Amino acid sequence: MNYNKKSVEEIEVRGKRVLCRCDFNVPTKEGKITSDKRIVAALPTIEYLIKNGARVILCSHMGKPKGEWKPELSLKIVADRLSELLGKEVIMAADVVGEDAKAKAAALQDGDVMLIENVRYIKGETKNDPELSKELASMADIFVNDAFGTAHRAHSSTAGVADYLPAVSGYLVQKEVSIMGKALADPDRPFVAILGGSKVSDKLNVINNLLEKVNTLIIGGGMAYTFLAAKGYGIGKSLLDEEKLEYCRDMMAKAAEKGVKLLLPIDTAIVESFPSPIDAEIEVAYCGCDAIPENMIGVDIGPESCKLFAEAVKEAKTVVWNGPMGVFENPTLAKGTIAIAQALADSDAVTIVGGGDSAAACEQLGFANEITHISTGGGASLEFLEGLELPGIACLQDK
Ligand code: 3PG
Repeated sequence: MNYNKKSVEEIEVRGKRVLCRCDFNVPTKEGKITSDKRIVAALPTIEYLIKNGARVILCSHMGKPKGEWKPELSLKIVADRLSELLGKEVIMAADVVGEDAKAKAAALQDGDVMLIENVRYIKGETKNDPELSKELASMADIFVNDAFGTAHRAHSSTAGVADYLPAVSGYLVQKEVSIMGKALADPDRPFVAILGGSKVSDKLNVINNLLEKVNTLIIGGGMAYTFLAAKGYGIGKSLLDEEKLEYCRDMMAKAAEKGVKLLLPIDTAIVESFPSPIDAEIEVAYCGCDAIPENMIGVDIGPESCKLFAEAVKEAKTVVWNGPMGVFENPTLAKGTIAIAQALADSDAVTIVGGGDSAAACEQLGFANEITHISTGGGASLEFLEGLELPGIACLQDK
């Protein structure tokens, strides 16, 4: 895909105040960051800005405070981690667009870096309130969007602010859009997409859009059972999106019409009841997808399906994967998801993991280095795969 948005390199940043939107919405546990992947992914742009004498004002959201000042969602822990990674002080503002942030922004010298507080502490942020956008813009001369993970949100700090400042993209946004854009627009073939996750309804437009582009579409995870039911199989007590049966039939017909190979699981892991808590030890059996007993629940793809899907991945030149194959939070039911991660890791193809749970799975399993690109976006990468224009990118200046 021809990415035609101006980049941070195409605007003079020296001596300028640059408001740089990042996605520092990192997972935390007991006040500690559990994965700093999104912070690390933002480093190239931040380092470029520092090296080129910009006065850097970073901003991000964290969680969903909904306009309330929730101390547990403060970005202070991000400033601390970022300081360690950059090897220099990241000045932390005590507010978002208040006195402290404005005074600190005004006092910045060339090459200094500061981080303002969680933009979602202000109600107007998620409403794309022009007043907040103006306030944010008033602190800076240039806007750089490097928050791919939040590019699907039309919020003040992701899109609105671009109405008041020259707006360009950072390296991460550029990288994500170029890699995933090429896969969708001009993939090396065969092009195989693997979709998982629990609900068909979450992936309606992704399935529809990918059927226009891929040679093979693999469907696993909870949503596969609705497809199996649409084929007329009994699926026992497995997850069924009843309202989407017709949709699944339409998609199978579309695949046949387009000559796209649509692969569904041929066997499945089954349990009597869903594990509770989710990672509790559980006894599992396997059966063919045409023989799921009435009282059983399908919870993962089976070993034959793993082989079938891995074979398809082996032949591919481009692979895009989004969504786990089973209840991967439970080690016994993570085998299908692990097998897919392994197949991608073993492949010589361009392999792209579209964020969210499948990205977390690759990282937890230690396969991250074997994958061409793991997106930092969850919802954003899904909307990208749907073929939607992302507001955080659409608002940037064209070349
Ligand atoms: C994400 O984690 O996917 C992004 O940071 C966006 O977060 P949101 O879904 O709360 O807008």
